[in-house]
Amino acid sequence: MKTIMMWSLKGGTGRTTVCANLGGLLHHQGRHCFLVDTDPQNMLALHLGMQVGERYGLALPEVTEHELAAYKRRNPSPIPHLPFGSCGVDELLTIARRADEAPDLLLERLSVLAPPRTEAVIVDAPPLVSPWTHSLVRRSDFVLLVLAPDAACYATLPALQEMVALREDQSTVAFVVNKMDPRVEFNRDVRAAMEQLLGDRLLPFSIPIDGAFPEALGRQLLLREHSPNSLALNRLRELAQWVVEHVLDT
Ligand SMILES: Nc1ncnc2c1ncn2[C@@H]1O[C@H](COP(=O)(O)OP(=O)(O)O)[C@@H](O)[C@H]1O
Ligand SMILES: [Mg+2]
Repeated sequence: MKTIMMWSLKGGTGRTTVCANLGGLLHHQGRHCFLVDTDPQNMLALHLGMQVGERYGLALPEVTEHELAAYKRRNPSPIPHLPFGSCGVDELLTIARRADEAPDLLLERLSVLAPPRTEAVIVDAPPLVSPWTHSLVRRSDFVLLVLAPDAACYATLPALQEMVALREDQSTVAFVVNKMDPRVEFNRDVRAAMEQLLGDRLLPFSIPIDGAFPEALGRQLLLREHSPNSLALNRLRELAQWVVEHVLDT
């Protein structure tokens, strides 16, 4: 079982969107994925059509079989996933403290919660550096960083590189540009500058900016259901194939 962390330092680059759609495509190909939301924004399950404001999720100190069964009855999604769950500030602080004291706990917990035969746990990680992201960066099998082709994201690259330098094997780190508009010269320039810094760790294809993404989220659908003939979906398929070849089947 491989753990893939989807991350960026900056919010809004499309981590959750890519995580949900990548997981959905892999699931559709018959690969056994378990999508996990570790971000208190709690957005991942929305992409999968689930109800807003669910208490059930990773934030609960214990997730019992009984609660899982009840959640599944309320939210019948074919794609195995674990929401973050809505919780209060005190609970968030407790979670952060626990992650600081026991950095292995999160991945250990996910390996227990993953359904049998899971091949890939795809983790939607929160932005910024925290005990959780620090532990995920060091301990996941693969880190996939989602970048937007803008100045703010470019400015995060030195800090991102410092974080991923904590990993022994740099071949298990990749960067992908999302929200790319190839007609915009500035987007092309930022992508080229990112490529200079990151070399072949930056994937050769980008996911285009496409209004179908927010529309799909508004309808709580994945892109393959909302916009099955889009270029963006083809690029997501390319990403899924890349993940199969470079992560799942290695
Ligand atoms: N390729 C894209 N084109 C257009 N909008 C996108 C794209 N990717 C994501 N979005 C939109 O950007 C917003 C933020 O995306 P999200 O995945 O929630 O970011 P993050 O998880 O990194 O904070 C959402 O409204 C989403 O629909
Ligand atoms: Mg998100």
